[in-house]
Amino acid sequence: MCGIIGYIGNKNVDSVLLVGLEKLEYRGYDSVGIALISNNEIFVKKQKGRIRDLANSLNGTPLKAKIGIGHTRWATHGKPSDINAHPHLDCKRRFAVVHNGVIENFEKLKKKLIKKGHKFISETDTEVIPHLLEEYYNGDILKTVLKVVRELKGSYALAIISKFHPDKIIGVRKGSPLIVGIGEGENLLSSDIPAILSHTRKIITLNEEEIVIMDKENVKIYDFHGKEKRKRIRYIEWEEDMIEKGGYPYFMLKEIHEQPKVIEENLKRVIINGEIKIQENEFLNFFKNKNHIIFQAAGTSYHASLYGKYIFEKYLKIFVDSDLSSEFRYREPLLLKNTLMIAVSQSGETADTLEGIRLAKKKKIPILSIVNVKGSTIDRESNYTIYINAGPEIGVASTKAYTAQLLYLLLICLLISYKRNIIKKKQLKEIIHELEKIPDKIRYILGKEEEIAEIAKKYYKFNNVIFLGRGLHYVTALEGALKLKEISYIHATGYAAGEMKHGPIALIDKNWPVIAIIPKNYLYQKMLSNVMEVKAREAKIIAITDGTPTELKKIAESIIIIPKTIPILEPILNIIPLQLFAYHVALLRGCDVDKPRNLAKSVTVE
Ligand code: G6P
Repeated sequence: MCGIIGYIGNKNVDSVLLVGLEKLEYRGYDSVGIALISNNEIFVKKQKGRIRDLANSLNGTPLKAKIGIGHTRWATHGKPSDINAHPHLDCKRRFAVVHNGVIENFEKLKKKLIKKGHKFISETDTEVIPHLLEEYYNGDILKTVLKVVRELKGSYALAIISKFHPDKIIGVRKGSPLIVGIGEGENLLSSDIPAILSHTRKIITLNEEEIVIMDKENVKIYDFHGKEKRKRIRYIEWEEDMIEKGGYPYFMLKEIHEQPKVIEENLKRVIINGEIKIQENEFLNFFKNKNHIIFQAAGTSYHASLYGKYIFEKYLKIFVDSDLSSEFRYREPLLLKNTLMIAVSQSGETADTLEGIRLAKKKKIPILSIVNVKGSTIDRESNYTIYINAGPEIGVASTKAYTAQLLYLLLICLLISYKRNIIKKKQLKEIIHELEKIPDKIRYILGKEEEIAEIAKKYYKFNNVIFLGRGLHYVTALEGALKLKEISYIHATGYAAGEMKHGPIALIDKNWPVIAIIPKNYLYQKMLSNVMEVKAREAKIIAITDGTPTELKKIAESIIIIPKTIPILEPILNIIPLQLFAYHVALLRGCDVDKPRNLAKSVTVE
């Protein structure tokens, strides 16, 4: 949460920072600010609101500075306000700091600093950092920073500039991501790749407890003992147009429409001569002698991992748990010597998932991660990572990463099952054959966007929606509800249809649309009874089904017919109309689809 950026070079820094911050806005967007050094003074402009508001208040006049830092905030300590926005300064305005993370001992530090005469103006935890720098500054910036980090508890990625060193940016990483972009006569610092991609493809990822000091020509990296480190430069393969909207009004819509291509390209990558080959299948060893798998993940990735639980149990015949990372960490989970952890994360930076990995590592449990962003912290801290290759996902509501996660979970599961001689070659072939038809089936559903937009018009004014599913479609119900609530702010909940009678059905009356995911599979009749039950209480039924909806026609007010596939693949298809439905409802309600209120794409604090 929060995006930070720093630039030093020959370009006008304010425009570099503002453009970069826009690319980081998915990390938080309740307030924004920049600090530059101009005429040997630190200039700060910050305010509550979006980056475009800050750009407007800067009036488009280039400030002509060549060094600066910027921040887009997702508030943790102190409400969104002009004062709480970053950068923060020391008393004499000689240090400016932007921060992503949480300083857990800030109250103690603040009290100490106030006693020494420092004046605080914000409610943030961050403000202690510039004051600590002021307190400890001794002419040597590295030594000063080392002294400051020794005082700080919690997680932080920092970008610092100082009047004393007008040609340097200092970055610090502990617990929150930070990368360095290496340019020609310019260098950058950023929370994530998209913000620097238009300047350079060469990056260095800072590891835990590392400090970078850069000028426009040189980059030096140190550990928290002040020892210089040699680091590998990575080359980023993402194209710049991958992080543009490409003619779509919102990233979310673009990403929904990218799904057939993402699945198609991944299938080309992994199905070689009818066999599954994922990254040379080097990860197979991790499954040796394992008879318990624990998935842990957050948000949409958690829903993908629930799908993982269902299919791994079915096809591997072993115990499988799926946990929310935030719960896993604190419930004293049973991790045995034959347990394998699979962590699922789009960003590879979710704080809870990362901590879950660290906890398992301490217990010597091997960790396999399924990640989108290469080089992310979860990628680096896992024993092995499988990449879902979905390309950059910018919309806060995850779409293409979800279906790519489902795909990889399925492929891994089938491969292991086949190696264990549970699933036979013939069955595997049949599934792969069906899988290869999925991209075109998604295209078919995307072709129904107008129809779905019309359906959205009927329901966008309701305040509550229930999503119902059974078996694998319970997972879709959870994910469909999450999509709707996160971008339209409608109260939406997914239930296992059989649970309705145990409480939720009490809610139902004519003011409740119920979205039923009801393909004609082995659970169809059971689902139909559940749908009849809510219909009998006057719910308005929207059915997602495949095949001819004979009975459903009498019950449902709206029906979305999607192509038929085999049950195990249905979740990859039936989430697509729900993504489009959520998108159109949010548009009709005038919501900012890509940047829903109070949310951030990458949750790097607990
Ligand atoms: C945030 C995002 C969600 C995402 C979740 C987990 O809440 O808004 O879209 O599913 O984090 O993120 P991860 O990157 O670990 O998949």
